[in-house]
Amino acid sequence: MNNYDEMSERAAAMIADQIKHVPHSTLGLATGSTPEGLYRSLIQKNRQDKVSFKDVTTFNLDEYIGLSETDTNSYHFFMHSHFFDYIDIQHHNIHIPNGLANDLEQECENYEAKIRNIDIQVLGLGLNGHIGFNEPGTSFLSRTHLVHLTESTRKANSRYFKTIEDVPERAITMGINTIMKSKKIILLVSGERKAEAVERLMNGEISEDFPASVLQRHPNVVLIGDKAALKKLR
Ligand code: F6R
Repeated sequence: MNNYDEMSERAAAMIADQIKHVPHSTLGLATGSTPEGLYRSLIQKNRQDKVSFKDVTTFNLDEYIGLSETDTNSYHFFMHSHFFDYIDIQHHNIHIPNGLANDLEQECENYEAKIRNIDIQVLGLGLNGHIGFNEPGTSFLSRTHLVHLTESTRKANSRYFKTIEDVPERAITMGINTIMKSKKIILLVSGERKAEAVERLMNGEISEDFPASVLQRHPNVVLIGDKAALKKLR
């Protein structure tokens, strides 16, 4: 794709197509800056009656531990303010891990048990190859679990917080195995700073040291990126 808008539009068209064919589809969703344009485009399609989310179910990849739903840095807040508040989705069909649960281990188990047959999982890519909050070294067999964020991820995400100390140290994330069970995966990559990670993902060895490399084993992954992110690919 030439640019960010084309990337976002292509991904939105694929998701809208899926929902038109199967109105009761289940989507796996990501936060972060990369999918913002995708959500904008889907909101537009919803407003123009080109797609309805009234029978769609969603599962988000991850959530920080310790932030309330009204905290502007929580992924609950992100998803509502960038997407859910503007579409006709039914609120009981929205699922995001609860980072304030009293028993966090139990919350992970409950969340994993709720996830059924994700038709399309949207992913972004961390600079260190993380998908969801599955940092390097995470087992490919992992299910929804609690994680300690690496310094590099906390630094990358500190752009949304006042200081790096304010970035939570822990999160709940779907596991790699959870993600790999999705029928189809759309991996979105944008910007030159992702170019090296994209190159390693496509041409590097499959290793738990670089979590996204597992996607080479998935039968139905679509990588959609802008020129800058794809520039190191031959
Ligand atoms: C977000 C998530 C993360 C991001 C990744 C890229 O729910 O799971 O893996 O997709 O950190 O973030 P951006 O898009 O901000 O570069």
